[in-house]
Amino acid sequence: MHLKRTHTCGELRAEHVGQPVTLCGWVHNRRDHGGVIFIDLRDREGLTQVVFKPEHNAEAHAIADAFRSEYVIACRGQVRHRIEGMVNPKMDTGAVEVYVDEVELLNASETPPFEIEDRLDVSQELRLRYRYLDLRRPMMQRSLMFRSQCFGVIRDYFARQGFVDVETPLLTKSTPEGARDYLVPSRVHPGRFFALPQSPQLFKQILMVAGFDRYVQIVKCLRDEDLRADRQPEFTQLDVEMSFIDEEDIYALIEGLMAEVMQKTLGIAIETPFQRIPYADAMERYGTDKPDLRFGMELVNVGDIAGACEFGVFTRALEAGGQVRGLNAKGAAPKHSRKDIDTMTEWLRDFGAKGLAWMKVDEGGALTSSIVKFFSDEQQATLKERMGAEPGDLLLFVADAPAVVAASLDGLRRRLGAELGLIAKDSFAFCWVVDFPMFLWNAEEQRPDPTHHPFTMPHPEDLDILEERPLDARAYAYDIVLNGTELGGGSIRIHRPDVQERIFRLLNIGEEEAQEKFGFLLDALKYGAPPHGGIALGLDRLIMLLLQRDSLREVIAFPKTQRAVELMTGAPSEVSARQLQELGLRIIT
Ligand code: AMO
Ligand code: AMP
Repeated sequence: MHLKRTHTCGELRAEHVGQPVTLCGWVHNRRDHGGVIFIDLRDREGLTQVVFKPEHNAEAHAIADAFRSEYVIACRGQVRHRIEGMVNPKMDTGAVEVYVDEVELLNASETPPFEIEDRLDVSQELRLRYRYLDLRRPMMQRSLMFRSQCFGVIRDYFARQGFVDVETPLLTKSTPEGARDYLVPSRVHPGRFFALPQSPQLFKQILMVAGFDRYVQIVKCLRDEDLRADRQPEFTQLDVEMSFIDEEDIYALIEGLMAEVMQKTLGIAIETPFQRIPYADAMERYGTDKPDLRFGMELVNVGDIAGACEFGVFTRALEAGGQVRGLNAKGAAPKHSRKDIDTMTEWLRDFGAKGLAWMKVDEGGALTSSIVKFFSDEQQATLKERMGAEPGDLLLFVADAPAVVAASLDGLRRRLGAELGLIAKDSFAFCWVVDFPMFLWNAEEQRPDPTHHPFTMPHPEDLDILEERPLDARAYAYDIVLNGTELGGGSIRIHRPDVQERIFRLLNIGEEEAQEKFGFLLDALKYGAPPHGGIALGLDRLIMLLLQRDSLREVIAFPKTQRAVELMTGAPSEVSARQLQELGLRIIT
């Protein structure tokens, strides 16, 4: 390669006219206009039109004649104004073009399986298999460059505040974050396994015991769990832990971080402090602990009215200990035919809902639907008032066990929020969800499960009721939610060994098991553990939400599919008999 690049393909403007330049990049497209060849040359910064004219330089023109899409070339030439009428205001470099004096083919390319364009209509599989081509698309380039920019802002923020970046091991022992572990067999100790970390939770606590005071790490976490659009088996956390603090310090730290990231990367000013919503309120008003606050449409409990009406579906659900709650889809009545509501009812079955009751408010303000007859005039009036019903509104109700009602109405609210256009583009609604219960009941195992993780400090006022009424105890835990997605979670930790042992007992973790699994933590707590707490944010999720993309795959360079496969390399793959033997393993299925 003897031509040396002087500028990127996104750089040239009218002020460069007359200058000699050398550009390197990929042939984005090539047009032959009556002997003159125009190439849009592409690199990560943009596109520049380069021109090969036989009468300008016959040799360069002859070479360019063989170029095809995605060939890699270098060309030297002079920047010129585009002729009148050929200026392209949509392109940053659209005022100029480069007349090529010398060109070098750096590498040829086979015809790519899809075009390197943002608008692309090919399968995920094809994109992931040829990820290096997919990543050449401007949108993917922007994703990864934006991600890198965010990481820079984050690192700078924490460095300024005296945080120490400490790496924690990948080959380690299981940490309970609630998912299945990825295991790595030990060759040196046949039959023994390392677990890949679900998070560095215990190490960061140990670092507090070790006196590091403020720890931060951008770190890979690995969880073998069922995948969704916002879950990958391998993802990146911003992991933070601090000593001698309370939850207010964490809120202020993370609010400051979010404000700085949004300002420096998107130029958007956000308001702090963020709204705080107790867990119980979130469940009551939104049916979820990750409410999307970009729009209203809050859930309304109509149990008292439903209990007194004649509609069997409602009264039976209440008698069985259930709830009847609903929401008001404002102005949605004319937009939803009976058939639409049937489709919505079918869709709700995945959430466990057995049906969807509805009423429309007609132009005169009266309720219409087949179930209105089961409500007295007075009940109808109370219902309308409770739900803020006005002409054109569609009222929707679910009667079921509380968890089913919550999940169904949360789903319905999200769906309607999007369908009715209630979510303004470029709006970012953060909130903290606080006062989580310490435990949730695991009916299958007949024991309480930690809502966050077993190292979370109970609310000091609830320490006394832990054993008698564990399900009423609140935790010192908090989640940060952005646009209806859980962005992060954390807690103030237990720093006293006796409290930690009590929690293990409550979780049915016997003394021996506790010693075997977490003995090192219990030991460490005995040697002067400072009060401490922290949080971890999902950075893939943050980038996805800031860029308003709909899947983590759009912001991770080499993600895994829904079936936990990395299609480009083909991992996971089989290994040789020899490797298995060395590890003392035999495959039995
Ligand atoms: P938690 O398990 O809540 O907390 O994880 C913190 C954040 O990590 C992100 N996250 C994920 N992102 C993508 N794919 C996944 N499979 C995935 N799982 C989690 C989420 C989540 O909010 N050790 C504690 C933190 C602490 O207490 O300090 C922990 O890991 O955005
Ligand atoms: P049915 O009496 O089964 O014909 O149902 C009458 C209406 O009530 C239909 O619109 C059903 O979708 C609705 N419905 C049935 N079960 C429930 C439920 N558990 N919660 C809310 N609506 C329901």
